[in-house]
Amino acid sequence: MSEIILTESKDRVLRVQLNRPEKKNALNLAMYAGIAKAITEGEEDRDIRVILIHGQKDFFSAGNDIKDFQGIASADGTNSIRDFYNALTTSKKPLIAAVNGYAIGVAMTMLLHFDLVYAGQSATFRAPFVDLALCPDMGSTYILPRAIGYHRAVEIFFFCDSLTAEEAYKIGYINKVFPDDAVLEESLALAQRLAEKPPASISVTKKLLKKYTAEPINQANIDEFIDMVKRIGSREAREVFKTFFERRKPDFSKFK
Ligand code: COA
Repeated sequence: MSEIILTESKDRVLRVQLNRPEKKNALNLAMYAGIAKAITEGEEDRDIRVILIHGQKDFFSAGNDIKDFQGIASADGTNSIRDFYNALTTSKKPLIAAVNGYAIGVAMTMLLHFDLVYAGQSATFRAPFVDLALCPDMGSTYILPRAIGYHRAVEIFFFCDSLTAEEAYKIGYINKVFPDDAVLEESLALAQRLAEKPPASISVTKKLLKKYTAEPINQANIDEFIDMVKRIGSREAREVFKTFFERRKPDFSKFK
């Protein structure tokens, strides 16, 4: 396993850490592939019962690597993203996320596929797809309005403002808020509790909970990906990618 993804198994819990701190855990293709590999290995390991993913103390992840967006539209990109999506959505074991700091873009939408999400009191969640001139991903256009209501989902996607941990908890996006320095420890303790339960019963319960929405979610993910690739090549998005690295704001006033 490459060092951008660190893994450790202990007491039947696989801990997966996103570890690209110099880029705030921005997800490039290697990160997507690394997460997919870690989850798949956890699924195949008979000694593992729960998979827990976390980032760093101050940030979970800055979302998709903006430099790598062109890569997503390539064959390699399609494969890595597909493997990542499949690993998250076909996992039979409980997936837990422990979030400290910000979870932006795909780092926020991927959480919709986790079974349990715990966050620190200073955690924030932001889906800036529209501000990046893109569109949402991970089947979130299907899941989010149904999870929290259409109008709230629109607010999150159109305005792209950050949700605090408390707000995310109130709308049901996450399970629980802990003091920042206790999130990982508390999440691991909850993972331990799950690891002691009958694994086949947990697995069948998860299968039933996911079964009836899997098809429309997968279809939404396919539709979003088609639009995402188109958006990545758009004039609007090219303006955003350029201005991000020049550290200035994009100007869409003259765009028709
Ligand atoms: N893609 C690529 N590089 C990213 C990145 C991303 N999503 N987020 C951060 N980075 C890089 C920065 O370019 C910078 O690289 P450099 O040191 O080579 O210049 C490094 O990570 C540190 O980021 P910086 O912006 O200096 O840190 P910060 O603490 O001031 O701000 C963020 C952190 C996450 C708030 C800010 O980087 C940000 O807004 N990133 C973009 C988030 C985003 O829109 N993601 C959605 C993609 S769908």
